[in-house]
Amino acid sequence: MRVLSAALVLAALPTAFAVKAHDFKTCSQAGFCRRGRALSSRAKENPAWRSPYVIDASSVALSSDQAVFTAVVKSQLYPEVNFGLDVRIHDDGVVRVRMDEVGGLRQRYNEAASWALLEEPKVSNAIQWTVAKDSVRAKYGPKNDVEVVVAFEPLKVTLLQGGKEQVVLNGRGLLHMEHFRTKESVAKAREEVANPEEGLDTDDSQAVMEQTLPRTAWFEGETEDGWWEETFNSFTDNKPRGPESLSLDIDFPNHGHVYGIPQHATRLSLPTTTGEDAYYTEPYRLFNADVFEYLADSTMSLYGSIPFLQAHSAESTVGIFNAIGSEAWIDIGRPSPKSTTTHWLSETGILDVFILPGPTIADVFAQYARLTGTPALPAHWALGYHQCRWNYISSEDVRSVQKRFDEEDIPVDVFWLDIEYAEDHKYFMWDHKLFPDPVEMTKDVEAIERKMVVIVDPHLKRVDDYPVYKEATEIDVLVKLKDGQSNYEGWCWSGSSAWVDYFNPKSWDWWKGLFKVDSQGNSWHWVESTVNTYIWNDMNEPSIFNGPEISMPRENIHHGGWEHRDLHNINGMLFHNLTAQAVKERTDPPRRPFVLTRSFYAGSQRFGAMWTGDNLGTWEHMAVGVKMVLANNIGGFSFAGSDVGGFFGNPEPEMLVRWYAVGIFSPFLRAHAHIDTKRREPYLLDEPYKSIVRDILRLRYTMLPVWYTAFREASVTGLPVLRPHYVAFPHDEAGFAIDDQYFVGSSGLLVKPVTRKSATEETVYLPEDQVYYDYFSHHAYRGAAKGKNITVPAELHQIPLFIRGGSIVPTRERPRRSSPLMKQDPFTLRIALDQDGNARGELYLDDGETYSHEKGDFIWREYTATRPGKKSRSVRIHSRNLATQKPGEAVDGVALATYDSANDFARSIAGVRIEKIVILGMPAKPVTVTKVGGKTQMEWTFTPGVAASDKKEGTASVLVIKDPKLSVLMDWEVIVHA
Ligand SMILES: *[C@@H]1O[C@H](CO)[C@@H](O)[C@H](O)[C@H]1NC(C)=O
Ligand SMILES: *[C@@H]1O[C@H](CO)[C@@H](O)[C@H](O)[C@H]1NC(C)=O
Repeated sequence: MRVLSAALVLAALPTAFAVKAHDFKTCSQAGFCRRGRALSSRAKENPAWRSPYVIDASSVALSSDQAVFTAVVKSQLYPEVNFGLDVRIHDDGVVRVRMDEVGGLRQRYNEAASWALLEEPKVSNAIQWTVAKDSVRAKYGPKNDVEVVVAFEPLKVTLLQGGKEQVVLNGRGLLHMEHFRTKESVAKAREEVANPEEGLDTDDSQAVMEQTLPRTAWFEGETEDGWWEETFNSFTDNKPRGPESLSLDIDFPNHGHVYGIPQHATRLSLPTTTGEDAYYTEPYRLFNADVFEYLADSTMSLYGSIPFLQAHSAESTVGIFNAIGSEAWIDIGRPSPKSTTTHWLSETGILDVFILPGPTIADVFAQYARLTGTPALPAHWALGYHQCRWNYISSEDVRSVQKRFDEEDIPVDVFWLDIEYAEDHKYFMWDHKLFPDPVEMTKDVEAIERKMVVIVDPHLKRVDDYPVYKEATEIDVLVKLKDGQSNYEGWCWSGSSAWVDYFNPKSWDWWKGLFKVDSQGNSWHWVESTVNTYIWNDMNEPSIFNGPEISMPRENIHHGGWEHRDLHNINGMLFHNLTAQAVKERTDPPRRPFVLTRSFYAGSQRFGAMWTGDNLGTWEHMAVGVKMVLANNIGGFSFAGSDVGGFFGNPEPEMLVRWYAVGIFSPFLRAHAHIDTKRREPYLLDEPYKSIVRDILRLRYTMLPVWYTAFREASVTGLPVLRPHYVAFPHDEAGFAIDDQYFVGSSGLLVKPVTRKSATEETVYLPEDQVYYDYFSHHAYRGAAKGKNITVPAELHQIPLFIRGGSIVPTRERPRRSSPLMKQDPFTLRIALDQDGNARGELYLDDGETYSHEKGDFIWREYTATRPGKKSRSVRIHSRNLATQKPGEAVDGVALATYDSANDFARSIAGVRIEKIVILGMPAKPVTVTKVGGKTQMEWTFTPGVAASDKKEGTASVLVIKDPKLSVLMDWEVIVHA
């Protein structure tokens, strides 16, 4: 949450505090972005442009296993400067290209990847480089059709597949690693040019001018633009290290769509920023920032940055993970509908690019997950509904909100407390005037098996009676000023504040110790919390009210002597990481943490959830929130959501109802509101709105098995929980730009959230020749081989939600007050037959809160429906143990050979049954329904209608098998004879 309320502004900041777009830089206000774009224009205007970077052929060296090659790179403009190139290919075919200045004035920042990567990737020992006169090459891949070519002069890296260029680095010659230099040496060089010993040999003033320019001007430009100092608004950045930015063109000559690089409020298929008909004029910016009232359609940076991009075509998908820790800008161009150019500009750091060769979309997700990790499997309750507000103002307030939810039978799992719970915004310390009994209050919430989340921000109030600040000072782990000695001080909610440097290893155990609920030798620990107090990390960009761009001065110094500018985008992830570890480790054995973060980086998916920050209560923000959450899923960070209702403003009931329907189809579901807004908890709505929202939230709870199964799949494979069309149907070009409808995991559920005022119907795109059933009305719609739009009803109480023919969806349909109360509830199986009469689905379950699933305490079932023969109208339904059916696929590290289907968790739900099976699209009324091996007929009802195999639309036939007395975790087979 952001934004000072008027009273706080006046109290805290005497100068007017109004964060607007002008508080954030445009490209032309950032020296290195200006220089990078100018470089690109010079290249475009100069037909003779040629990259000055070349590989010194004599320096090429192969590692002893020939898997890594290194070489010296020179810029022809600065022959005295050396760059080291290191190119390696990982086990899974990912190519890592690194380049760094060697023997320069200082070391460039080279740690970004180490924070993002799960572990140091293994280099393939099967792949070998061959060195030729003008290049080094390697060929590999399952079909031996992937080729990497590193050309010497100029330096250019190309990844080909089947002879077709997939990714090209420096193909347009925009690579520029600004080497370290001193002001004095640059001045001296200029002097020499201006006063050459031989004197100028012409009177032509134009020629004189050209000769007096540095000979690097054609490439670097004529002036030292923003090299030594920059001023933005009232802030001066002294840039003690001078220019050190990196420019690199990364092109996709055969891919017409690019996705990813969250976080931006824009479409999923990223619009262009360069070229004649560019959609945007500014490049996409990655600079974690607290952007007040952000625009709903913009390339401006927001709270988090994941420098991971996917390029997609009907033939292949490739990815780029560009491990940049500093601010970055990315220009995107589209020279033809089927090709894309990108130009990456970053303020500091080495070149460290991972090329993910795909070639399938699933390969790219797996490759990215092997680099930066899969999303952590969340606690099951964390997928329930979260009720937040700035602020629930007292223990009594929390209790009465809970009471109202229960009186109205509206499910909720978590109550949240924003900054006002903390005395003077000293996090961990309760304001006892308002919260006299925090532990008792939490226990009242726990009584319904609910949890609390309270905020812990990174700014520490600089007062001696705040033990957290005091200890941080004593162990000397605070971020330093540019002198590297004195602690930095800035303004935030807590007034004058300091920030812990989480890059300093000394801070790690200390921070984790603060969260312990029992004193375990810690000097100070959080007695007034319980193991059901979870954490929200806000403001961790970091947001600093009186800092440049509402953040930290770039010259500040972190552990290891790095400047803040080097690691700015990584900073928030470390805070999140350590807080998640702290919450995990506060009990023994550990329990799954829940920590929400606003700021994030590549790898943050390993630590918890994120949300899209301070959105506005407008239809535009509701709509773009869907796209932003999809983009985060593409960026590997599935556990994402936008605040239901919008943070700012007072949404009218219609908007709020629609927003809940959007929210329940987001991985993370939270309602939140600014302190100046009217209360808007769902029980406050009038009818019919209240009942509609109750039904919407109950639908979410019904579908928790689907969400949990999707999360478990994401945690193993890296496939996203939300799958936009290009992911689900990677060969269907008509779907590549669709970002307002999507699938949930592998469940076959397709949703189109309604984000328009006064909508009564919606157009939904069906990508294939298949039947799709309306989830509620059972209307069977037909797609077409080349895709088809259908129009469906979408009144306020309706959600366009479909089950793809061929899917089996497990649900739990008993309304409960919170999700843990559903643990022993029975299941319903919704079987949506496809045109051939088949279907399949999965269900994964475990205890939802510990790590015992890693020891094999889980169930993983596959349900299938098959037609016994081509002409048959019968259906066989099977329940199988998938944990032993899919050998080779480890589940959270458990070797499946050791899986015991009678594990502790399975025993704990031994009585859980299937209470209902619904079959959509049965070709005929059954004669008998029996369990194989059982004697008795099952009870069923049949409503005739359209069969899956009919090429007709209309209400589908529905067979309901009532209480089939089947276990959810045993193998069984049911035969529907027809
Ligand atoms: C962050 O989390 C990973 C686990 O994914 C851990 O190995 C690493 O040490 C953590 N980083 C810090 C700074 O604690
Ligand atoms: C579906 O509708 C969209 C939006 O109106 C349109 O762009 C698209 O071409 C249509 N697709 C088909 C297959 O008709």
